[in-house]
Amino acid sequence: MSSGFDVKNSIMQIHPYVPGESKLGTEKPIRQLAANEAPLGASPKAIEAAQDSVAQLNRYPEGGAVALREKISERFGFPAQQLICGAGSDEIIALICQAFTGEGKEVLYSQHGFLMYKISALAAGATPVAAPETNLRTDVDSMIEHVTENTRVVFVANPNNPTGSYSTKAELDRLHAALPEDALLVIDAAYSEYVDADDYADGSELVAKHSNVVMTRTFSKLFGLAALRIGWAYGSEEVIDILNRVRGPFNVSVPAQAAATAALDDWDWAMDAKQLNNRLLPAVTQRLRGMGLTVYDSVGNFILIDFDNPDRATAADEYLRAEGIIGRSVAGYGLPTCLRMTIGTEDDMDAVNQALTRFIESESA
Ligand SMILES: Cc1ncc(COP(=O)(O)O)c(C=O)c1O
Repeated sequence: MSSGFDVKNSIMQIHPYVPGESKLGTEKPIRQLAANEAPLGASPKAIEAAQDSVAQLNRYPEGGAVALREKISERFGFPAQQLICGAGSDEIIALICQAFTGEGKEVLYSQHGFLMYKISALAAGATPVAAPETNLRTDVDSMIEHVTENTRVVFVANPNNPTGSYSTKAELDRLHAALPEDALLVIDAAYSEYVDADDYADGSELVAKHSNVVMTRTFSKLFGLAALRIGWAYGSEEVIDILNRVRGPFNVSVPAQAAATAALDDWDWAMDAKQLNNRLLPAVTQRLRGMGLTVYDSVGNFILIDFDNPDRATAADEYLRAEGIIGRSVAGYGLPTCLRMTIGTEDDMDAVNQALTRFIESESA
């Protein structure tokens, strides 16, 4: 598509991000399993903090999110001056592309990586480069093969959305060691809180040792604050300083800062939410595999179900929607045979199980 305006060519190549749907146009109760949201909602303490914060809507937010950064520092042990908060980690991804790339520069990510990497690269005028994956996993050798003298940012979602797979600490170390110093390695750890695997790394150890590594995190998933748009990143002081120069002065709202700070104080709530997810995830995976479906191993709060062909995936999606269950088509991720499904409540997952059982029965009827 072309534009009569003199905008960057790359902007006209963007396919705008299509969010997971939340409505079905029916009166039926719906099960919203399209956007990897927290099925139990947010901590009541976070909700109360957001509510209390709206008494003074005429006041601008604290621009540097000082209290929140201090709370993150206290909880995770990273120095507050090496943290930045954003309107979702999406904003931080965009700021990274804006600050570190531009025309003639390349942004590298893996084939089925999170869609915002490509969109943010194009918005910044840079060239997106996707490295082929092996078995729906980030392939470090393939990533390294695609590094050129123009590579400025390398994104690895760990775990990745929508595949649910993760890169090991050894793989991240190997990728980092192969990058030139002027390329920034971004470990997008949006789902890291769910992962228990011993060989997993969220990238924070690399950040502590190297100035060209950033880890991004979010309050949208485990902490259930997606509506408020709040994420953060940990990087070297040099990188954080650069990002602060392009950040809007009041990019994180007052309710978002208040709720996120309170959410970190209610750690038990977060751990209960994790426990529910990590109990249901293997159980659902087994149940669906038991009906002959291919379900990829996932360490996040979602699963990727492969229906073997695009028509069957579409039919399954339609069948589920008719039953009030909204999953996520991932054709836009180059996975037209698959649907992604958030791990919801136990009741949601029973409904998914029953609906897919009926779907499979309907195919042979
Ligand atoms: C891998 C990954 N990174 C980042 C995000 C962005 O999250 P937010 O902008 O809500 O922090 C998402 C959201 O789905 C994601 O899946």
